[in-house]
Amino acid sequence: MRGKILTFLRERKDYVSGQELCDFFGVSRTAVWKAIHKLQEEGYQIEAVTNRGYHLVEQEQAEFFGATEIESRLHTKWLGTPLYFYPETDSTNVRAKLAAEEGEQSGALFVADKQTAGRGRRGRSWESPAGGNMYFTLLLRPKIAPDRASMLTLVAAMALTKAIKDFLPKEEKPKVGIKWPNDVVLGGRKVSGILTEMSTEPEHIHYVVIGIGVNTGRQEWPEELADKATSLEETLGHKVNRSVLLARFLEELEKAYETFLGTEDMTFLREEYNELSVNREKMVRVLDPKGEYEGLALGINNRGELLVETQGEVREVYAGEVSVRGMLGYI
Ligand code: BTN
Repeated sequence: MRGKILTFLRERKDYVSGQELCDFFGVSRTAVWKAIHKLQEEGYQIEAVTNRGYHLVEQEQAEFFGATEIESRLHTKWLGTPLYFYPETDSTNVRAKLAAEEGEQSGALFVADKQTAGRGRRGRSWESPAGGNMYFTLLLRPKIAPDRASMLTLVAAMALTKAIKDFLPKEEKPKVGIKWPNDVVLGGRKVSGILTEMSTEPEHIHYVVIGIGVNTGRQEWPEELADKATSLEETLGHKVNRSVLLARFLEELEKAYETFLGTEDMTFLREEYNELSVNREKMVRVLDPKGEYEGLALGINNRGELLVETQGEVREVYAGEVSVRGMLGYI
């Protein structure tokens, strides 16, 4: 309820009487008082004035990143519920998979401020220092054929791209793109990565976890990443509110996911995805374990596979098996 009271106070901007909160949430005065007290303990500046009620003082500089703040920003119907927040954990993908095995519901969200064993694609690690970036995982239980599930990563990348675009001023928006299958890039550098893992049977998906890392805050990059990675803060020159970005993303993803469950393919997103693709019409090197080759990337098909023209034929590259590099580096 704390998150909902926070939303109520934030939207009202003026004083709200204790009685109005009691009536709205159907709880006692003591329950409201306790919730307000807890919010104040969490650092929210809430003025309490006799005969007027409660008023939330917006603290422009402060960023509250925790369960209450995220909940207070959510506008989704089901995605992001329940929400687990960890000031520090090993990996939100690990947390999500363990919860999934215990029967946790579809839509659950696992967010951390810091990961001690963050994982990237292809067995790499994902540096996850505290205090400025986003690390989160969604648990989904889609009732679709298992061979369709890998497209969910592309759907998530599209939703994230849209959410990130909303944070950028008009002139910066064209800098956002997607490197197939699911890296979100900003000015040619990686700003986000997605690691999707799943548990399936031949005909049935038990669960899918979509783990997303977004470089929101400024970061010291190791030498090998210095010209390949960036953060939103680096581009914007100021911090972004992680809870607002997360909520915006979840809103986009909820819509797209529901459409995807109907189509079970990328028809509804294909054109938009191809427009955002930074690989399209570029020469790429396909790192296929069965043999590497070079070709011209044409865009994705309705199954989310990358079409690559090589030696007079068009090959369909499936994201699960191979990786694609630009001829001169990351893109
Ligand atoms: C990549 O290699 O590009 C994918 C990186 C995915 C990182 C995120 S951070 C949240 C979630 N938890 C993890 O351990 N990994 C993913």
